[in-house]
Amino acid sequence: MLGSSMIDIRDLANQDLLDLVPYEPGKPIDDVARELGLEPASIIKLASNENPLGPSPLAVAAMRDALSKSHFYPDGGGYHLRNGIAEKFGLSRENVVLGNGSNEIIELLFHTFTRPGVHEVITSKNSFAVYELMAQLFGLRCTKVEDNADGTFQIDLKLMLEAIKPQTRLVFITSPNNPTGTRVSNEALEEFIQKLPSHVIAVLDEAYYEFLENPPDTVRYVKEGHKIVLMRTFSKIQGLAGLRIGYGLAPAALADLLQRARQPFNANLIAQVGALAALKDDEHQKRTRQITDEGRAKMEAAFKQMGLNYIPSHANFVLVDVGDAAGVFNRLLKKGIIVRSMVSYRLPKHVRVSIGTPQQIDRFLEELPAAIKG
Ligand SMILES: Cc1ncc(COP(=O)(O)O)c(C=O)c1O
Repeated sequence: MLGSSMIDIRDLANQDLLDLVPYEPGKPIDDVARELGLEPASIIKLASNENPLGPSPLAVAAMRDALSKSHFYPDGGGYHLRNGIAEKFGLSRENVVLGNGSNEIIELLFHTFTRPGVHEVITSKNSFAVYELMAQLFGLRCTKVEDNADGTFQIDLKLMLEAIKPQTRLVFITSPNNPTGTRVSNEALEEFIQKLPSHVIAVLDEAYYEFLENPPDTVRYVKEGHKIVLMRTFSKIQGLAGLRIGYGLAPAALADLLQRARQPFNANLIAQVGALAALKDDEHQKRTRQITDEGRAKMEAAFKQMGLNYIPSHANFVLVDVGDAAGVFNRLLKKGIIVRSMVSYRLPKHVRVSIGTPQQIDRFLEELPAAIKG
């Protein structure tokens, strides 16, 4: 014990961690119920782009069956799920890396391709917060490239190419993008991939890929052997966010490197079984797309009618300018409606609203004018 009080524990920590502001997730229903004394069943959460239909029923049935095998470790090699994913995309198992959510694939990329103080990464200014957080944790500079100058929040792939330096290793492109809901065009992406310098890995975050109309054939880039990783997830279209299961698709040599960076049992047994069943649940995916398309059209039409500026979305959420994001968030919260304030994304006038069921959308739209008025 001698001297233990002389050294501040913070001095012993990774110093890059001390300034890190942890990721702020959507507020859980139980927290709101506890804090405001509301019935959990009366609260609606439109804050984390979850699936309004719930999980794939095929996944639920398969997971129920698998529960009695929970005393076994999962298959660390993910044989069946990786085969199932590969088959769906005309790839082989060696192209597939499983992650504890696609978030873990982000972490594997940093482990695999970066060294602190040596390398840098690039993302766009209004994109998913985790890339920058991870860069900070790994002691790397993260360049955030401005969106198009016309105020439409479009990711500018030409500017991203121009930002590449000799020390750049990873470039994150999110399409559809979170939190803006914008997409990159198939043509702009093609040009970007063809022009990408050979020392850089393109990371296409495709968490919302399945919601796109006219999606780009990005699997082709994997087949052609580009330095590329596609990140996909079971959290959105399949409704399995609570399971934490996502995957990366990459050329085999690249995927092999990522595999070395992961924990032996990073994808749990129940998640592997549920994800494999959900992959084949075309009906649930179709219904999810339908309820999302209809709900988004309704929400965007209502915003237009209220004279609110919103970004036309290609995903299962909409970003809308409500003037005072923090105030609107709090006032909606008191009514049992959880949306996501974009203050932490440095968009203090915007909230992001997930597409819920028709009833949830109606309730949100009913309460919104009063919440804006204050
Ligand atoms: C753009 C983007 N990438 C990745 C993720 C992480 O998803 P997962 O649940 O697979 O970790 C999200 C989750 O919201 C996201 O919006």
